[in-house]
Amino acid sequence: MLRAAAAERNKDPILAVLREYAGPGPVRVLEVAAGSGLHAAHCARALPRALWQPSDVDPRALQSIAAFREAMQVHNMLPPIHLDASQSWETWGGTQPGTLDLVININMMHVSELRCTQGLFKGAGVLLKPGGVLFTYGPYAIGGRISPQSNVDFDCSLRQRNPGWGLRDTDLLQQLAEANGMCLERMVDMPANNKCLIFRKQ
Ligand SMILES: C[S@@+](CC[C@H](N)C(=O)[O-])C[C@H]1O[C@@H](n2cnc3c(N)ncnc32)[C@H](O)[C@@H]1O
Repeated sequence: MLRAAAAERNKDPILAVLREYAGPGPVRVLEVAAGSGLHAAHCARALPRALWQPSDVDPRALQSIAAFREAMQVHNMLPPIHLDASQSWETWGGTQPGTLDLVININMMHVSELRCTQGLFKGAGVLLKPGGVLFTYGPYAIGGRISPQSNVDFDCSLRQRNPGWGLRDTDLLQQLAEANGMCLERMVDMPANNKCLIFRKQ
């Protein structure tokens, strides 16, 4: 299994927000960029009415997700699928349009090219049911401004590693949401200067 120190720290704060959107009834969830699989196993176990589909683009992540599923025996977590967020939703494992309640994306946008963020919003816009939610977590620029200084430094270090990486701005995300039939409904402050963003499908 991949090491997941950050996921270990943020899994409970994320779950606390997610519970508000996972409803009492059955919920179909697609997690894009599930990484180690720790969030998938932890949240699916805590939300037994959810049917959780984890995915990632990296074969090592897919192995790790499968290992977490096996080790934690989470019965409402499906085997992971290969999904590249930069590619069309039609390649995302055969999910039909308008059938998902939740699309979840944790800590991917700032460590991938912009086309991955664009693909995430396009795919979520098609696959979510009306009223469904795109739930994202990570560090963001808010209305053109990054704060505090530690996030400014983090953004610089990401852009030095890869000029296509870096904190995404909520103004841009709002535009992408609106272009794909969603709206930014809520921003939740999270520990360590992160946020959960809630985008609602109209
Ligand atoms: C920082 S890790 C976060 C993993 C996990 N969500 C977490 O918070 O522990 C970023 C993840 O994004 C995935 N990723 C990067 N580009 C992607 C893409 N184009 N499509 C899907 N996943 C991608 C990576 O493989 C990696 O698992």
